[in-house]
Amino acid sequence: MVESYLSLIEKRIHGQHFGSTPSSLYEPIRYIMSLGGKRIRPLLTLLAYSLYKDNPRMILKYAAAIEAFHNFTLMHDDIMDKAPLRRGQKTVHEKWNTNTAILAGDVMLVKVYDIFLDLPPRKLQKVIALFNECAAGVCEGQQWDMEFESRRTVTQVEYINMIRLKTAVLLGFSLELGSVLADGPPSDQKRLRKAGINLGIGFQLKDDLLDVYGDKKKFGKQVGGDIIANKKTFLLIKAVSKAKGNDARELKQWLRARKFDSQKKVKAITSLYDKLGIQSLTEKKANEYFERGFSELRNLSVKAKANPLIQFALDLAARQK
Ligand code: IPE
Ligand code: IPE
Ligand code: MG
Ligand code: MG
Ligand code: MG
Repeated sequence: MVESYLSLIEKRIHGQHFGSTPSSLYEPIRYIMSLGGKRIRPLLTLLAYSLYKDNPRMILKYAAAIEAFHNFTLMHDDIMDKAPLRRGQKTVHEKWNTNTAILAGDVMLVKVYDIFLDLPPRKLQKVIALFNECAAGVCEGQQWDMEFESRRTVTQVEYINMIRLKTAVLLGFSLELGSVLADGPPSDQKRLRKAGINLGIGFQLKDDLLDVYGDKKKFGKQVGGDIIANKKTFLLIKAVSKAKGNDARELKQWLRARKFDSQKKVKAITSLYDKLGIQSLTEKKANEYFERGFSELRNLSVKAKANPLIQFALDLAARQK
C-alpha cells in the first residue's frame, strides 16, 4: 500500500508545474522537489484518507500540496540554519543565492494556497483554517528555534514545545487532512491530529539524534550542523544537565566559543554525549512520543483498517535517514 501510494505521490509531484519565468525563480523549486525525500507527510495524508475511503487519487493534489509546503519550509530553514546540504545535494541558497531561496520559497507557499483553492467549497474554509493554524505554528517554532541558539538555558519543556510547533503540527495536519477530506468522524479527526503531533515530536527527536549520529550518506545533511550552531536540541539540554566538573566546564567553553574549528567542536561535543550516554536517553524519549502516537492510532474508530498506517508509523520510528 505504502509503495503504491509513494509512486502516486512521486508522479504527481513530477507533474506539478508551479510556473516558468523567470526560470531563476522556478528552477530552484523544481530542483528541491525533485531531490527526493521520504514524502512522509503526503503519505500520512493518503494513509489517513484510506481509513475511510478507497480512492486516494481523489486527494492526491492536496497531499502533494503538503509536500510543497514542507519543501518551502526546508528552503527557508536551510538559510536560517546555514545548511550546505539537503538530500545529499547543495541547498538552494548555496546553489543559487539567499534572495532566490527566499523568493522561491515565498512563491511555493502561494502555490500551495492555489492548490487548496480547488477544494470543494464545503471543505475549503475548514482546511484553510487548519492549514493556517499549522503554518503559523511552524513559523513560531522556527522563531523559537532561532532564539534558543543564542540563549544560554532552555528547558526540556520549552524544547518540546518548540519542536511541537516547528515539526509536529505539520504531521498532525497531514493526518487530520486525510480524515477531513474523507469525512471521517470528528473524533477520529482530532485523534489523528494528536497522533501526528506525538509522532512528529518523536520524529524531530530522532532527527536531532541523526544530526549527531547519522550516516552522512544516508542522512543527506551535514552531520554535526546542530552542534556547530549551538542548537538547543534534546541532546544538548540533557548533556548540560548531566555534565559535572571538567565535562561541564568543557561543554560551557564550547558553547561560549566565538571562533572555533567546527570539526573539533563537533568531535568534542559528540565525545561528551558518548560519555554521558545521551544517545540512549534521546532514543528513549523519542520512543515515548512514538508510543503515544501509536496508541492514538490504535484507538481510532476504524481499528481494523489502521494496520498500514500503524506499520508506517513504526517504520518512521526506526528510520536512519
Ligand atoms: C526534515 O524533514 C525536516 C524535519 C522536520 C526534521 P524530513 O526528514 O521529512 O525530510 P525529507 O523530506 O525526507 O527530506
Ligand atoms: C526543521 O528542523 C523543521 C522545519 C520546520 C523545516 P531542522 O532544522 O532540524 O530540520 P533539518 O535537520 O534541517 O531537516
Ligand atoms: Mg532548523
Ligand atoms: Mg535545518
Ligand atoms: Mg535537523
